[in-house]
Amino acid sequence: MQDQHRDRVPAAEAETPKKRSVVLGIGGGIAAYKAAELCRALVQRDFSVQVVMTAAAQEFVRPLTFAALTGRKVITGLFSSESSEATLSSAVEHIGVAQEHELLVVAPATAHLLAKFSHGLADDFLTTMYLAFTGPVILAPAMNSNMWLHPATQANLAALQARGHRIVEPGEGFLACGMEGPGRLAEPEEIAQAVSAELNRRRDLEGETVLITAGPTQEPLDPVRFISNRSSGKMGYAMATAAAQRGARVTLISGPVHVPAPRGVIVIPVRTADEMRAKVFENLDRSDIIIKAAAVADFHLTDVPAHKMKKTAARLSVELDPTVDILAELGSRKGDRLLIGFAAETENLEREARRKLETKNCDMVVANLVNGEGTGFDSDQNEISLALRTGEYFSLPRASKRELADRILDEILKLRRALAAPVHGR
Ligand code: PMT
Repeated sequence: MQDQHRDRVPAAEAETPKKRSVVLGIGGGIAAYKAAELCRALVQRDFSVQVVMTAAAQEFVRPLTFAALTGRKVITGLFSSESSEATLSSAVEHIGVAQEHELLVVAPATAHLLAKFSHGLADDFLTTMYLAFTGPVILAPAMNSNMWLHPATQANLAALQARGHRIVEPGEGFLACGMEGPGRLAEPEEIAQAVSAELNRRRDLEGETVLITAGPTQEPLDPVRFISNRSSGKMGYAMATAAAQRGARVTLISGPVHVPAPRGVIVIPVRTADEMRAKVFENLDRSDIIIKAAAVADFHLTDVPAHKMKKTAARLSVELDPTVDILAELGSRKGDRLLIGFAAETENLEREARRKLETKNCDMVVANLVNGEGTGFDSDQNEISLALRTGEYFSLPRASKRELADRILDEILKLRRALAAPVHGR
């Protein structure tokens, strides 16, 4: 298998092994002509570029343009190969291309392509290769404004972002269809810069094992009812995606959510606070960093009735007991591991964050105001402040949960260096 893999490496690439390798996927839209400029910008940055064109893209631009720019055969279909004979290697070429390249950038990413990526439909080379690809993915959408703003497109984008893909947002202006508004492909230089930035991102969590909790817990009241909260899991899943992309081994203990599992992450589903606690402590020994982004229910019914509670005209009272405080228990058993708690507050953010830092023996508390507009629970963005064991407290500007996940990881690594200093005696 490995020999076959080596056989497929083009001679030119074998001679220059240090080149960073990129797959440029081109979708079928008017903006496909701009992909030539992007291709040149990538080649100028000394990346080895493999172009893959959809059938629709070839209606707008000829593959020859990209073959000339890259000096490589352009892939134009699932069963296309330079020779007219079908071979085993051409039939599995999409797997080989996925394995041999570090990053996939798709420009223009049409509404149709976004939908296929989002739902895992694989009916041509690009979409099949996408499913086999495990590296970072950058998507540069371009389409008519109404198509861009359509809830179906926005839902697909949200799913792809939650999967950890970077979206280079389209610009606003006059579109080929005659409309004015959002949907114009970002400038090729901006897309090329996003590719460079992603490839230069450090694998600074290699060798680390990170344990993350995400989502809500559900505490049963009877066999059909439960107490829960509005956590979607997006923050914790963004943390898991970011940590895995930076090279960490990641275990994600997740309450019931609808967010797709991040690539390369072990996901352990749980329902209640008690189940979450059990899985956290099962995994504690092999973890270096623990991040508690889950919104664990604070109360539960200790003795859940075996039968559904009947509706009566009378007022119903249920007595709730506190759930186990997993974070506090981790604080007393963490040893030299780094423990990161979250704090969801509606007021007194700094005071509460510092209090949780102290009382639960955390190394960092990520505090978010959860009554803000479009931040906190079930939003794609968040606005957070960090309270650190070093005494620092600072706020980060509002950003996507995925971007903030990287900022939090940056601060965790800085904190590890600061705490390693002898004065802290760890
Ligand atoms: O999931 P999303 O929709 O993306 O929303 C993200 C979020 C708002 C849920 C997330 O950013 C967040 O703030 N998570 C923590 C929510 C929470 O439960 O906060 P808290 O202040 O009640 O708890 C403080 C810490 O103690 C948290 O790390 C929590 O995981 C932990 N805890 C709480 C109760 C409990 N019984 N055991 C715990 O370990």
